Amino acid sequence: IAAGEKVIHPSASHVSVQDRERVKGHQGGVFWLTGLSGAGKTTLARAAENRLFAAGVDVTVLDGDTLRAGLCSDLGFSEAERTENVRRAAEVARILRDAGQVVLVTLISPLKSDRALAARIIGDNFAEIFVDAGLDVCEQRDPKGLYAAARAGKISSFTGIDAPYEAPQAPALRVETGAQAVDAAAGELVSFVEATVRAD
Ligand code: PPS
Ligand code: MG
Repeated sequence: IAAGEKVIHPSASHVSVQDRERVKGHQGGVFWLTGLSGAGKTTLARAAENRLFAAGVDVTVLDGDTLRAGLCSDLGFSEAERTENVRRAAEVARILRDAGQVVLVTLISPLKSDRALAARIIGDNFAEIFVDAGLDVCEQRDPKGLYAAARAGKISSFTGIDAPYEAPQAPALRVETGAQAVDAAAGELVSFVEATVRAD
């Protein structure tokens, strides 16, 4: 072992994927919800979480605002920090997926390259979901007053205002949340998740 060399020995689980699936009654999977601030990612995921749980799915939500209060509390909104935010969320999602869970990740994740990184980290059973509401609608809603703050120059690097949002070109699912009610949008997500993780 060379001086200063990083020595790690990752171990693999002895519990098989098949045994986990048999016990839970579904596969593990990561559903990566991307969209503008105010598009309804958190609302949609929380509504879907309720319904999936009621249907016997072992489901967890990894939400940007929540992760940023703990695991990612050292990160801001520069491009490099968003990349690191996405990377950490993807690593956690992978662990939970490997444990057989259905993971709903809700991060703006504005850059295609960062979402591609997440897809690479997670590998199997990764689906990109576009939570699609236009910037005008999101700014109109402005549930946290962040768009107003960004327009007033009180927040910089705000997604959609002075930081980019690259919409997915070919998401596995696009959920329209500009005009559609939460219940209907959640129904679309739940159906998609059920069809994916209960498929044989
Ligand atoms: S990212 O881009 O994926 O790393 O962002 P994410 O971890 O999802 O965090 C987004 C939430 O942070 C709040 N917030 C901001 N968003 C975007 N740009 C800037 N500058 C910013 N500052 C604070 C905001 O509450 C976002 O939550 P959502 O739920 O998306 O509205
Ligand atoms: Mg949110």
